[in-house]
Amino acid sequence: MIARVIVVLSFLLTPVARPSAADTASPVTRASGAELFNPHCGICHLQMGPGTIMLGRRLGPDHALLDERLDLDAAYIKQVVRNGIGGMPPQTRVDLTDNELDRIAGYLTRPESERKPHGGN
Ligand code: HEC
Repeated sequence: MIARVIVVLSFLLTPVARPSAADTASPVTRASGAELFNPHCGICHLQMGPGTIMLGRRLGPDHALLDERLDLDAAYIKQVVRNGIGGMPPQTRVDLTDNELDRIAGYLTRPESERKPHGGN
């Protein structure tokens, strides 16, 4: 009984102890977002993935590859990941923590100056 209360209390206190999320993500934070993007999103959102193909069909080829787009904002990305959209299943905090999602959103919204120039195809 007491143990249960402690478990509940520590659960309630966890968000306070957690370092605040990186809305103002640094270049280093965004780099680690790139490493998270590949395993969590890349299976569908890299070249030839179903996400890439569906977005290309729905929004046009220049909107197909998520990590090349300049029009996404972090709030929209997080909303889509938590709720899913069309053929994309939602990812819960068990799949991807808020901190990891912040880092992925930071990576996908990184400034143009941090992007590699497109070398041909
Ligand atoms: C199982 C495949 C799959 C995975 C994994 C996946 N997605 Fe998607 N995603 C899709 C599909 C398919 C669509 C297109 C849905 C549609 O247009 O109906 C999509 C669409 C999106 C969109 C909407 C873009 C727009 O312009 O409306 C965003 C943002 C997005 N995904 C982000 C992510 C992120 C970030 C991750 C990783 C955390 C991720 N997705 C993982 C399949 C996936």
